Amino acid sequence: MGYPHPSHPRETVLLSRHFGDAEARGLAGWMTRGGYQALEKALGMSREQVIEEVKASGVRGRGGAGFPAGVKWSFMPKQKTKPHYLCVNADEGEPGTFKDRELLRWTPHALIEGSAICAYAIQAEQVYIYVRGEFTEPIRVLQAALDEAYAKGLLGANVLGRGVRIDMTIHRGAGAYICGEETALMNSIEGKRGNPRIKPPFPAAAGLWGCPTTINNVETLCAIPHILEKGAAWYKGLSLSNPKSSGTKLFSVCGAIAKPGNYEVTMGFPMKDLLYDLAGGIKGGRKLKAVQPGGSSVPFITAEEADGALLDYEGCVAAGTQLGSGGMIVYDDATDIVYQVMRLAQFYAHESCAQCTQCREGTAWTTKILQRMLRGEGRMEDLDLLFDLGEQMTGKTICVLSDSCAAAVVSAIRKFRPDFEAYIRSGRAVAV
Ligand SMILES: Cc1cc2nc3c(=O)[nH]c(=O)nc-3n(C[C@H](O)[C@H](O)[C@H](O)COP(=O)(O)O)c2cc1C
Repeated sequence: MGYPHPSHPRETVLLSRHFGDAEARGLAGWMTRGGYQALEKALGMSREQVIEEVKASGVRGRGGAGFPAGVKWSFMPKQKTKPHYLCVNADEGEPGTFKDRELLRWTPHALIEGSAICAYAIQAEQVYIYVRGEFTEPIRVLQAALDEAYAKGLLGANVLGRGVRIDMTIHRGAGAYICGEETALMNSIEGKRGNPRIKPPFPAAAGLWGCPTTINNVETLCAIPHILEKGAAWYKGLSLSNPKSSGTKLFSVCGAIAKPGNYEVTMGFPMKDLLYDLAGGIKGGRKLKAVQPGGSSVPFITAEEADGALLDYEGCVAAGTQLGSGGMIVYDDATDIVYQVMRLAQFYAHESCAQCTQCREGTAWTTKILQRMLRGEGRMEDLDLLFDLGEQMTGKTICVLSDSCAAAVVSAIRKFRPDFEAYIRSGRAVAV
């Protein structure tokens, strides 16, 4: 396949069209670029019609799990007996992912508009935007945009004069990865320790303060105005592959890549084209060794598997991994994969909330075993022990932090076993 591939466009800039365009950050500039027309349109539709349109578009959650957004919204009670809430997940803690902060920095009004449309559809009068605390500039830009939106009557007691109340508040997180997990995020907003909650009940039944709550990722909500404006069928048509994955997706490409950055492509775009055509290929002319296409929580795939992979939910699963958050971590042939995997496990051990034994002990022991290997004291049976630990860490805990650690470690050993065995056989030691 040549580059660029003749059958598809290079990038399809929908959400990232105004990245770098300082004028688009302000309300006046945003309005001249068509801003808030979708909100106006949505408020002229019934709540059910808005949800149906989003459902029909097939847009799936961009935070990692890929759950269809319209279906999630439809789980909210139709009869309102308690306050309803919308939480916007702008925690962006997944290693390798740096797209949401750019959406906040450059197109804050797109997020406000998408969130207001969602709030209207699910009957939420209060929206909490949970932003990672270190995002100083994105928070400043977003707050300025919220102030402008309130001043123009786009938020507040009477949105666009339609008698709808929508308030939006920024809540700064304190930098814990676990607070990106939806129920930990809700505990954190409530002022509690950010521990995930046991589900059920799911947030649509009992979320913030026990009230019906919807939670969506920044990128998911930024797509909503486009869907309302141009229609579900148009959005669904933005796919090179299959109808289960529609629209565009932002990929944060990082690691051993010549041109790291955010790239927006339609679902189904070939991974190979993104890596070699758009992102300039492997840094320093080296060879690709492995990729984690959806952040550090998804399985590693080899260069051969990456070669034929399509970037959508099903394509990534077919290649043996997941689309996840779209944080694409690239490893070249000079990478010490054992060391990299140890660093990932160390991250998960540090970030485990420690509620579940399998996670607290599993992430810590995985790290210790890998560190022992890197000190030149590994044993061949350690590999089976890591597989066994991985099994105990999967599907047995309140949230999937533990599963994520296991997926990365187990896939790395499966795909690059000779690298692990070489450490064990040679007794080679590196600083850990
Ligand atoms: C440990 C952990 C961390 C997470 N971190 C984030 C995050 O930083 N941002 C995010 O949007 N979703 C994160 N998620 C996923 C959320 O739980 C949830 O699926 C998402 O906010 C739903 O929004 P979406 O359907 O629009 O993707 C995380 C999940 C887990 C288990």
